[in-house]
Amino acid sequence: MAIRHFLTLRDLTTQELNQVIQSAIEIKAAYRDGRQDPVFKGKVLAMIFEKSSTRTRVSFEAGMAQLGGDAIFLSSNDTQLGRGEPIEDSARVISRMVDIVMIRTFGHDKIERFAKYSKVPVINALTDQYHPCQLLADIQTYVEHRGSIEGKTVAWIGDGNNMCHSWINAAIAFGFKLNIACPEGYEPNSGLVNEGGAAVMLTTDPVAAVKDADLVTTDVFASMGQEDQQQDRLAKFSGFQVNHQLMENAASDALFMHCLPAHRNEEVSAELLEDESISVVWDEAENRLHAQKALMVFLLGASS
Ligand code: CP
Ligand code: NVA
Repeated sequence: MAIRHFLTLRDLTTQELNQVIQSAIEIKAAYRDGRQDPVFKGKVLAMIFEKSSTRTRVSFEAGMAQLGGDAIFLSSNDTQLGRGEPIEDSARVISRMVDIVMIRTFGHDKIERFAKYSKVPVINALTDQYHPCQLLADIQTYVEHRGSIEGKTVAWIGDGNNMCHSWINAAIAFGFKLNIACPEGYEPNSGLVNEGGAAVMLTTDPVAAVKDADLVTTDVFASMGQEDQQQDRLAKFSGFQVNHQLMENAASDALFMHCLPAHRNEEVSAELLEDESISVVWDEAENRLHAQKALMVFLLGASS
């Protein structure tokens, strides 16, 4: 059987993605009831981090432990990867010793090269281009609060970044409309926007993007690796803050999501982030744990 990787949402069919979301919901209920089978007993996850993380690290590591497995944290500072050992060599070595690998890194090509040489499933835990694990948690959160996301309208406000790219993939896979509002010069990848076709609308007007949306979402203006652009971006993204006033243009029961960490009063107002009648960011963060357990169960099952 071929090894299944999760480098972008497009690596799974729509049916498989929906299966992972449903399984995540069931795994969450089992976790809360204290009835969890140690399905990862004897399994080891290698976690390679070349960028910082709170949610991703804790959710993968805790998830593996809760289901009877182990996780090894590998920072590029402490491994030979950080001293220039080729990614292809690292992939061949690490994947002979563990059952599954997750990687957070810069260029997406790096994770593709790792996956090409890996004997075990590889999960994208964020690259400069995509953040698919976050989308599993986000879709799970929407489904839990409002039911199926198919046919709904989502508004992305802000930078056309890795999260935005994964939202485009999600719109294609799950069948919803995605309205994207970015300042000029900060649009998402045009090839990906074209792939989205009629499902994706691109504008520079946040109000137009949010109109009648069922879900509004955003992310920091400067992602990891872009810290030196922070001040410049603050000026360029003025008018792109998601706040109660902007949310008034959305559907009356619209939700707000943010992958976190958030910069209060930059991309989102502190009041909106804390308004739990609209903002579901804490559920969204928790669901990283459940969605990634479901993902690992799927990948290990499908690759064995
Ligand atoms: N949302 C997310 O991936 O958070 P971390 O950077 O803390 O992992
Ligand atoms: N776009 C952000 C997401 C962090 C989870 C970044 O890449 O830094």
